[in-house]
Amino acid sequence: MIRAAATLLMLAVAAPLSASDAPYVPTPMSVVDAMLEIAKVGPQDYLIDLGSGDGRIPLRAATRFGARGFGVEIESHLVRDANAAARRQGVADRVRFETRDLFDTDVSGATVLTTYLFQSLNLRLRPYLLAKLKPGTRVVTHEFHFGNWQPDRRITVHVPDKPYGDPKSDVMLWIVPADFSGLWRVSLPGEPERELRLTQRFQMLSGTLGAQPLAEGRVSGSTLRLLPAGSAQIYTGTLDGDTISGEMSRAGAAPQLWRAQRVQRGRMDIDAGSELPFTSGSPTGESR
Ligand SMILES: C[S@@+](CC[C@H](N)C(=O)[O-])C[C@H]1O[C@@H](n2cnc3c(N)ncnc32)[C@H](O)[C@@H]1O
Repeated sequence: MIRAAATLLMLAVAAPLSASDAPYVPTPMSVVDAMLEIAKVGPQDYLIDLGSGDGRIPLRAATRFGARGFGVEIESHLVRDANAAARRQGVADRVRFETRDLFDTDVSGATVLTTYLFQSLNLRLRPYLLAKLKPGTRVVTHEFHFGNWQPDRRITVHVPDKPYGDPKSDVMLWIVPADFSGLWRVSLPGEPERELRLTQRFQMLSGTLGAQPLAEGRVSGSTLRLLPAGSAQIYTGTLDGDTISGEMSRAGAAPQLWRAQRVQRGRMDIDAGSELPFTSGSPTGESR
């Protein structure tokens, strides 16, 4: 990753001056495919690439997976070429490119958002993406991460013919989390109501269910999974407004339905504070 950053920086120094915050370096096609596959892109998706270069990511999403796409790019000649490629490839009705600053782009309609930008740009984008993207939106990057917002999945793609840096690329996936933080009242048939207190930092939950601390808590889009400490119970549920409904399961017993009603909202911590080192050896790392 350090080599890739150094390569981009060298190219940035060599490139002519422009309003671009990162130089044009195309993602190798095998990595584009890995990005689209990790996001499970399909015909129902609307993919936005921020800093779209020659348009290869939205174009491939449309030609291979039937998705709709949009790319914004500061270099107008790249935008011209990308729109011409969309016409040539017969997907101009579904894919469009615009000369535009990525920081001035409405991303709220995306179901998949991709970037291959510098670290510093991703960190500037992070609060905006978390505020504007719908829960469940898949965010995929080539090489550069989002600091303390740990990826939900990460793979290393071997790219023997990569024309720069190491012959491999990291591809990372984040699922935009809904905000479950706050105080909840939990009902489970045949049991007295209990309080669920949830604190959320990105997709990670901590807190208590009744008197029990949570051993594990995690959000993926609008769903959550909770494991109270010292019990074999697993709670899964889906958020709808201020209501969670789902199932509680434990080995050897039939799953039970549970519900929770939020009585006080919290606020997800998206880390306005200092950055801790990225856990690059995270257990989600895989190779292909
Ligand atoms: C490393 S390239 C990636 C191109 C393409 N996404 C890909 O993966 O092949 C980054 C692109 O972002 C564009 N870019 C940099 N700063 C930008 C900005 N503020 N607004 C829009 N595009 C920008 C650059 O011109 C460059 O084409």
